[in-house]
Amino acid sequence: MLKIAPSLLSADFGRLREEIASVTEGGADLLHLDVMDGHFVPNLTFGPFIVEAIRRLTDLPLDCHLMICDPLQYGPLFAKAGADIVTFHVEVEGDPARTFAAIEDAGARAGMVVNPDTDVRLLEPWLERCAMVLIMSVHPGFGGQAFLPDVLQKIPVLRNELGFERDIEIDGGIGPSTAGAAKQAGANVLVAGNAIYGQEDRTEAIRAIREA
Ligand code: DX5
Ligand code: ZN
Repeated sequence: MLKIAPSLLSADFGRLREEIASVTEGGADLLHLDVMDGHFVPNLTFGPFIVEAIRRLTDLPLDCHLMICDPLQYGPLFAKAGADIVTFHVEVEGDPARTFAAIEDAGARAGMVVNPDTDVRLLEPWLERCAMVLIMSVHPGFGGQAFLPDVLQKIPVLRNELGFERDIEIDGGIGPSTAGAAKQAGANVLVAGNAIYGQEDRTEAIRAIREA
């Protein structure tokens, strides 16, 4: 099933309640939360405290994308704050097995993320543990960047060569003009920040991506 995940990064944080309600009522399937630490990426966003507040504002599943250097230490805190799924990057140092265990023990599902320049085959040893794989289609750090079409080649590798059957999420530059190619390649969870929060009518923006 195709799922649409609005990224709150492009929302107006001064009106968080309304911004979340607009996509909840507009047909979103999950809410994508971008966590940045100023080290793994050159930008900073928010921590578990805000995720806990967001948890109280919606029943949508919360999809926490950790762009941070230490997912082992912080991943469980996001799970405890109410994230349903927590994804962390394959590029960070440390033993993914411990990070998976820590996130799952704290009550969330876990998955891994690959940057545009990273070989998706690096995920092979961990695929059995991934509830979802997230393919970055921009260099992480900021919303509103242009989609990098070359990353789509990773999806058939994941599906066919590596036999991954669970959710494949794509994140970055997704909108009505790029969603069709992402779906066709085999992605089934589409993240969109600017293409949803940059539009006045969120229901229509979500519909346009779903039907692309
Ligand atoms: C980028 C984030 C994305 C971002 C997507 O680092 O991971 O989730 O919000 O924004 P758009 O859809 O505007 O490219
Ligand atoms: Zn993201």
